[in-house]
Amino acid sequence: MNLTAENHRVPLSDGNSIPLLGLGTYADPQKTPKGSCLESVKIAIDTGYRHIDGAFVYYNEHEVGQAIREKIAEGRIKREDIFYCGKLWNTCHPPELVRPTLEKTLKILQLDYVDLYIIELPMAFKPGDAIYPKDENGKIIYHETDLCATWEVECHPYFTQPKLLEFCRQHDIVIVGYSPLGTSRDETWVNVSSPPLLKDPVLNAIGKKYNKTAAQIALRFSIQRGVVVIPKSFNPQRIKENFQIFDFSLTEKEMKEIEALNKNVRYVELLMWRDHPEYPFSDEY
Ligand code: A2P
Repeated sequence: MNLTAENHRVPLSDGNSIPLLGLGTYADPQKTPKGSCLESVKIAIDTGYRHIDGAFVYYNEHEVGQAIREKIAEGRIKREDIFYCGKLWNTCHPPELVRPTLEKTLKILQLDYVDLYIIELPMAFKPGDAIYPKDENGKIIYHETDLCATWEVECHPYFTQPKLLEFCRQHDIVIVGYSPLGTSRDETWVNVSSPPLLKDPVLNAIGKKYNKTAAQIALRFSIQRGVVVIPKSFNPQRIKENFQIFDFSLTEKEMKEIEALNKNVRYVELLMWRDHPEYPFSDEY
């Protein structure tokens, strides 16, 4: 497949297609100035990104919607050029809540549709107004659910998921790999005892050869094996850097070398919810 900055979409079974590179938009709302997401999404669209990954629970979905609408109004893009993925939060899993929750997201975005709507996490919390419902001891109140394993998958050179990827290839399923750069290493939800991906000597050495960063090598590796990536960045230089991955390609030998870096390191372990009956990460995928 010839991946270019203008066209790096892969087909989906329903006739639609998804760009292999998207912009992630999760940033800690307490530490991120208002408006950063708006600016970043606008810069990303100007850079050439056509896939934006967001969620109600990121508290900035209105900024994503505003950025997309502003760029449509400027005439830079049409709505159908953009692939937007939204997410159903843990407190809204009961089937009767799915549609109204999606409608709420559309209202926040002020858009008519989303291109993909996925289950944020397969662990339901008690429905209600509180996003993190807690009991008198401050513990999250879980909720029963009978979800099938509808799931998005962490995927990067330290967690290459060969078995899952092969299964998905056989069944024409496209994987979206979150945390393709190894996360922001926020210790409230990330296992920071795992080695930082972007410091990896092999990724850096291959990067030197192509005059690219370890991040660009990690992203190129994923899209070259058909895994969609959604690196988050609210830094204009890094938003652009992450898009400069269509002017080179990795050799088969380099792809194998990177595949061999796999350490089954899952950065996003969400250990604080490991006693949830549906905690997903004890299962082999
Ligand atoms: P920043 O927004 O300051 O660029 P995630 O795993 O959620 O996608 O997050 C990726 C993390 O890596 C973010 O903290 C982001 O921070 C940072 N980042 C994004 N692009 C790069 C890059 N090219 N090099 C180094 N760090 C990056």
